[in-house]
Amino acid sequence: MSFAVYRRYRPQTVSELLGQTAITETIKNAAASDRLAHAYLFYGPRGCGKTSTARIIAKLANCEKRLSDPEFKKLGEPCNECRACREINEGRALDVIEIDAASNRGIDEIRALKEGIRLSPTSYKYKVFIIDEVHQLTKEAFNALLKTLEEPPAHAIFILATTEYEKIPATILSRVQRFGFKKATVKKIVEKLSMIAKDSNINISPEALTLIGSAADGSFRDAESLFDQVTSMEDKEITLSEVELLLGKTGDRKIIELTDKIIKNDLQGALEFLHSADEAGNNLVQLTKDTIHWLRKALVLSLNPRIENLLKEELTEDSFQALKEQAKTLNPQKIAIVLKNLIQTYSEMRTSPFAAISLEVFLVENLK
Ligand SMILES: Nc1ncnc2c1ncn2[C@@H]1O[C@H](COP(=O)(O)OP(=O)(O)O)[C@@H](O)[C@H]1O
Ligand SMILES: [Mg+2]
Ligand SMILES: [Zn+2]
Repeated sequence: MSFAVYRRYRPQTVSELLGQTAITETIKNAAASDRLAHAYLFYGPRGCGKTSTARIIAKLANCEKRLSDPEFKKLGEPCNECRACREINEGRALDVIEIDAASNRGIDEIRALKEGIRLSPTSYKYKVFIIDEVHQLTKEAFNALLKTLEEPPAHAIFILATTEYEKIPATILSRVQRFGFKKATVKKIVEKLSMIAKDSNINISPEALTLIGSAADGSFRDAESLFDQVTSMEDKEITLSEVELLLGKTGDRKIIELTDKIIKNDLQGALEFLHSADEAGNNLVQLTKDTIHWLRKALVLSLNPRIENLLKEELTEDSFQALKEQAKTLNPQKIAIVLKNLIQTYSEMRTSPFAAISLEVFLVENLK
């Protein structure tokens, strides 16, 4: 692939932004009724759509079709065909200015920015300033920015983005419309990766995509990079076990198999499982870590069924059903002790040349 996947598949319309419904609804309505704000703050974890949404807003503000066709405007989407939309998509729009605050932190940069803000747009209706990692600005730079946000010129739109909401001064917060982006769920990631796989004629199993989705820890960007890595193998059909080896991470099915045996006190079965996982080249330290996370979920679900909906978001339907089954049968006191000992085992394993043995000893001591 000539282009990194995450750049090729950046959402170009509001509808293509997955998993941020509250935000996308608000933006669509605002665009349809011509009430885009002059200053936004986007906060949330990395890779969940902040920069993508900022660029979509830049298009909404300047799309020639939107500005000239009232019927089209009602859709609350950019056309992606007019000159402005194309220039913004290609990253060569003079009136869309992206600043990385991590490397332009000081007062001089903000002063230069202020000069730029005063000048009218060269060819669009609005000048759009996207300031990424805005929490990195110095105090002086924040103050300068604040002045600008107090009286923004009518032709300017500011979009501030950050992964660290707590570091944004209250004075800034009160002057912007705030949107909190959520971590991507495994389901949404799998949805997107399936679309990309189909589009690029890549044959990859749903279990393999799910594993990539859970390894990405809520970031579409990370998921798409992992996908890129995995699919660059010369292979007609990509399977779960290949992805397991590549990522050094085990799929849910194996974790469920092992935890089933732990919950049922099946020592013999657990030892056999361990042996074959080791033979298959599974990373046992990672396997132990995933087992800890999984048992914790089962334990919490058994004690508090109300978190069902939350867990449903994180897991595939099959995995969720398996977890629910386990939560019904496990003994919370026993699993609490198992967890404590397993965490202990995990920290031993990380530095030990005998990872498999530590895990074996754990099983022998705890399953009886
Ligand atoms: N909500 C989303 N829906 C679909 N794809 C997304 C979404 N968020 C991020 N992506 C994918 O991840 C890449 C990086 O997203 P980006 O908007 O730059 O994230 P952020 O600015 O929050 O770190 C995008 O190019 C896109 O491929
Ligand atoms: Mg970004
Ligand atoms: Zn357009």
